[in-house]
Formats: sequence, structure tokens, C-alpha cells
Amino acid sequence: MTDTTHTPTEDALVIFTPSGKRGRFALGTPVLTAARQLGVDLDSVCGGRGICSKCQITPGYGEFSKHGVTVEADALTDWNAVEERYKTKRGMIDGRRLGCQAKVMGDVVIDVPPESQVHKQVIRKSASQRDIVMDPATRALYVEVAEPDMHEPTGDFERLVTALQQQWGVGEVAAELPILRRLQPALRKGNWSVTVALHKGNHDARHRILDIWPGFHEGKLYGLAIDLGSTTIAAHLCDLHDGSVLASSGVMNPQIRFGEDLMSRVSYAMMNPGGDVEMTAAVRTALNGLVQAIATEAKIVPTSIYEITFVCNPVMHHLLLGIDPVELGQAPFALATSGSLVLDAADLDIKAVNPAARVYILPCIAGHVGADCAAVALSEEPNKSKEMVLIVDVGTNAELLLGNESRVLACSSPTGPAFEGAQISSGQRAAPGAIERVEIDPETKEARFRVIGSDLWSSDPGFVAATSNSGITGICGSGIIEAVAEMRMAGLVDQGGLIGSADQTGTTRCIAEGRTHSYVLHDGTANGGPLITVTQGDIRAIQLAKAALYAGAKLLMDEMQIETVEKVVLAGAFGAHISPKHAMVLGMIPDVALDKVISAGNAAGTGARIALCNVAARDYIEATVHQIHKVETAIEPRFQEHFVNASAIPNAVDTFPELSKIVTLPQVSFNTSGSGGAGGRRRRG
Ligand code: FES
Repeated sequence: MTDTTHTPTEDALVIFTPSGKRGRFALGTPVLTAARQLGVDLDSVCGGRGICSKCQITPGYGEFSKHGVTVEADALTDWNAVEERYKTKRGMIDGRRLGCQAKVMGDVVIDVPPESQVHKQVIRKSASQRDIVMDPATRALYVEVAEPDMHEPTGDFERLVTALQQQWGVGEVAAELPILRRLQPALRKGNWSVTVALHKGNHDARHRILDIWPGFHEGKLYGLAIDLGSTTIAAHLCDLHDGSVLASSGVMNPQIRFGEDLMSRVSYAMMNPGGDVEMTAAVRTALNGLVQAIATEAKIVPTSIYEITFVCNPVMHHLLLGIDPVELGQAPFALATSGSLVLDAADLDIKAVNPAARVYILPCIAGHVGADCAAVALSEEPNKSKEMVLIVDVGTNAELLLGNESRVLACSSPTGPAFEGAQISSGQRAAPGAIERVEIDPETKEARFRVIGSDLWSSDPGFVAATSNSGITGICGSGIIEAVAEMRMAGLVDQGGLIGSADQTGTTRCIAEGRTHSYVLHDGTANGGPLITVTQGDIRAIQLAKAALYAGAKLLMDEMQIETVEKVVLAGAFGAHISPKHAMVLGMIPDVALDKVISAGNAAGTGARIALCNVAARDYIEATVHQIHKVETAIEPRFQEHFVNASAIPNAVDTFPELSKIVTLPQVSFNTSGSGGAGGRRRRG
């Protein structure tokens, strides 16, 4: 590259878009070389040998008044045989050139398409604050290695390392014995060229060769981002080169049979010698099954998975690692380690992936606030928010983050599994046939609903036919929230959570069940289907769950010394389906304008994906968690006070001015005994 201020005839001006980087280069300079010298983000796996096709660029011709240049038709060398061979064999978009083959012969404007950028952006589909920039810890590199020489005796590995250093500028390189065993045949079969899968995590001093192939390896490298939850284990299979998600899949966490929520699993470990070992084995077996299933779905071999990132709550974290979680069940809730962890997949008995695969586990924040919460912080970045934002990751245990660019607080709250349809009489997992949306007419008290698998309401013509396969089988988490909120809005449930009788409400849908009442949402018994009701017990379960969630949010607001928040983000797979209006009628979340309630989808899973695709994000979240202040709900006396107040629907003391702009809740009371109707106090676990 030469100075841009003079224009000797043997130089040409090269301008790259979209970066705008420009410089003058001697005629005959390959475009890839010019890009590298200017620091332009142009990909290459083969090091400019015309093999990998990652360096594709689009030259622009004609007048570029914005850049002050005119590009002639002969600004680059002619299309060559390497490009022709590639295009014939693999195809290439017309107008594209290989940056390592095309040489600069005149002033030229070169566009680098997104797929040719190393640090390409992966566009997030959800309500995304930012895209993921690719900078993975593992990448494929092609190298040509010097042949052995009797007069200068060196090992094949040492010459491979020298080649990697000279051709790719990497530092120290290590290889485990299984790779050394395959090195010599690979080098000779590849005629002294190989492709290696090279890994360097954020804590690693050295690069590590995870795999080796003779010649140029066409196959791709994959990684898994896993959100290991108490109820479900969700995984995204990602291409480590471009960050694309090939498949997303989930399984139930088999530890459920040892206890539905976290504390019951800790209790199981305490009460049963070897219980922790059983739970560790169960989750690891499930993970191997999930790896196989997701690889099959994506039609890849599971051994092409080289990295896994995990996010999980502290109890899942310890059980995954094979650490007895007993200390997490009692104050001061000490973690064995709160730092991030870098391991071999084999250390966790995850055998379905590549034998050399590496694992990164995000750091935990504190004893009850885990790597899942750290992942939400990585994905949603409350520490960069101008607005005071409350982020709620709704699951069996709710994780909450409150803050803005000045300060961020976190806590977890034991909501229990009611929001996921468990502990609800007609509750079920979100699956076809489950009621997910509910509307109750405040005049007639009649209900209509929608089930997963059909867009029709139950009152629409064609609904019966549309649901004939799935049937109407139960109520899922979002359905029960809507049902209870609609019952409250229709005057079927009072502030204390009591369901009125048929006489009190004026509808025969309210039926007596012992000394309490239930509301009939759907009666399928005439056709052999279920009677789906919302019982008094269901309302109590929802009251307990939502009161725990709200009390957690209030504790954080107390600590922050604020009365209101400016924005609420609902995260968690289930958070994507919660209707903000219904959540607020229930008093699950603090009062805020409805357009300030945003769904972030599975933010913890997204955080795992970011850490998988961008190694610098690992340093970032490790530093960020130290700045997040943890509030412990279990030992905070005000938690109980907030909890009792929040048991009312929406709340016994807090007003909801934004909610009352759009909803007027009927002033009904069905408490004829004189005793209070609010839900009981909830014990942790
Ligand atoms: S750099 Fe590999 S084909 Fe150009």
C-alpha cells in the first residue's frame, strides 16, 4: 500500500464498500492482499489459494462520483481458470470474483458482500437490540506445510505449527495425542496440505487443534448453544462460520422425576445418598440424546460439532458439572464456583459430539442467579439501556434484572412451574391442542379460545374441523394466564382471587366443586373429550407464582429506590407468548404503558448463541457480571410483605394507573366467610 495523496501511474486506488476503506496499491496486487493490508473484513479459509471461495467480492464499474473515481472495464485482471473451475463446479453469482485471484489493474470500487465478511453480522429475528458479530473461538484453516528434510530434521507437527504461524499469524499451537496420531497420514494424503479446526477460547494461552483433514476440508464446523433449564433443555445448532442456526430443538429435563423445581431437586440430593449423581447422569444422558436428535434434524454428523456453550441456573449448573448442589439449598447459598468454565465435552460425558469438542459455561452471578441470567444480560444488555428496564425471564424459576447504564441489579424468584402449565388442573405443556388464548365476554360471561395448531377462535366456523386432529386437550402456561386475567376482567374472580358461584356471577359456567367454584372453559365430554375448567386451586397456583415474580421485581425496585420502571422485557421461551395486557391485569409485572412491554423471546438461549459465535462476548459477560449487584430474595424480609400484597389481583396496595387507562376491573367480592381471600404464603422451594 502506498500513500493516497499522490497518484503515480503504477498505482491504483482501491475503495472497499461498505467499509469505505481505501488505499493505493501497486498494479498486480490481489484484491485479497489489498483488503488485508487495509484491514478490510474479507474472509479466507485457504489463505488465497483459490480453493475455499470465501473471498468472493463484487467489483463495481463505471462512474462513482461519491468516491470520485471512474472504474474501467479492465480495472481487474481477467477472469482466470481458477475462478472458471470454481464457478463451473460450485456456481458463483454473476459479477462476483474471487478476491485472491482478481488483481488490481486500475482504480476500482470493490464491494464485500455480507457472506464474505469474517465478522459478519447474524441478524437476530426477535425484538433485537443488536446483531451477533461472528468471531468464533473455533475456525477452519487450510495450510500448506513444508515437507520433511533429512538435513533439517523437524517433526511434522512442528512444521505444521510453523506453517500456521507464517500463513495465518497464529501464536502457540497445541495438539492432543489423538490429533498427533492422525497428523502424518493426513499430511501425506493431502500432499503436504491440510485443513485444521483450530480453537482458542478467551482464557486459552494457546491455540488447540481439534481436528485435521488432508487437503482442503469442505465440511463445516458446528457449535451448540444450550439453555439448560429446570423443565426443558433447549439447543440451537449453529454454523460456526456464518452463525446461521440450522436447527433448534428441545427436550424435557429428565431431572423432573426427582423434583419439579430447583429446591426439590436440591432436597432430593440431600435426602438420597447419591441422588446428585443420579441427576447428573440423567441430564447428561438427555444431552447426548439431544445432540443426536438435533444433528439428525439438521442432517449433519454430530462429530462435526466442536463447541458447546451452556447457560443454566446454579442448581442445573452444579448438577451438569457433577457437583453436589447441597450448598445451594441453604444460606449463604455458596456456589462451588461462580466463574465461567472452559472444559472438554468429554469431561461432561457428552460423547455424541466431536471427541475434542470444547465447552464454555457462562459465569453465574450468585447463588440463586445463574449463568442463564448472565446470558439474558449478554443478550439484552440492561447495562447499556438509557431507560430503567426490568427484564423478566419467566420460567420455573424467574430471573429478574433491573437497571440502566448506571447500575444493574439481579435476583431470582421461586415462581414454581405453574406458568408452564404444571400444578394446574387442566394444565399441559405448550403443544397442539393446548388452549393458549382466551377471551371472556364481560356481559354474557361466555368464553372463546384458541388452541395451539390453529389460528381460529373456538367461536369461528371451521374451528371443530381445524382442531379435529389435535383435539382440545388442556391449558398451557400462556392460556392459564389469559384465562385467569379474563376471569378477573369479566367479574368472575374478585381481587382476592376467589371464583364466584353461579348465583354471584350470573353464569352457569361457574360450577361448585366442594366448597369452592370452578369456571368451565370448555366442555368436551359429550364427544368423549375432557372437561376443561379453571379451578380455585388453579387460581391459587397462579397467584403464588405471579406474587413471587412481582415481589422479586419490587425488591429490586426498592433497592434501586424507584417506584416505577420505564420498560419491561419479557424473556424466556414462554415470555414470548405472554400477553402484556393479561400479565398486567394479573399483576405479574409492574405497571407500565403496554407499548413499553416487549418480548425478547428466549434471551438466555440467545446469550448462549452470542457466546458461541463471538469469543470476545465471553470476556464481556465475565466482566459485566461483576458489575451486576445481586439481591437475595430468600433472606429479605420485605419479600414476604411484597408477596402477600401481590397475591391480590392485581395487587392489594399498588395501583396500576397505566392499566386502568385501558381496563376497568369490576369491583366484585365473593368472600362470604369473612376470611381473607388472598393466596397463602409461599415457602421457597
Ligand atoms: S481465499 Fe480461498 S478462494 Fe480466495
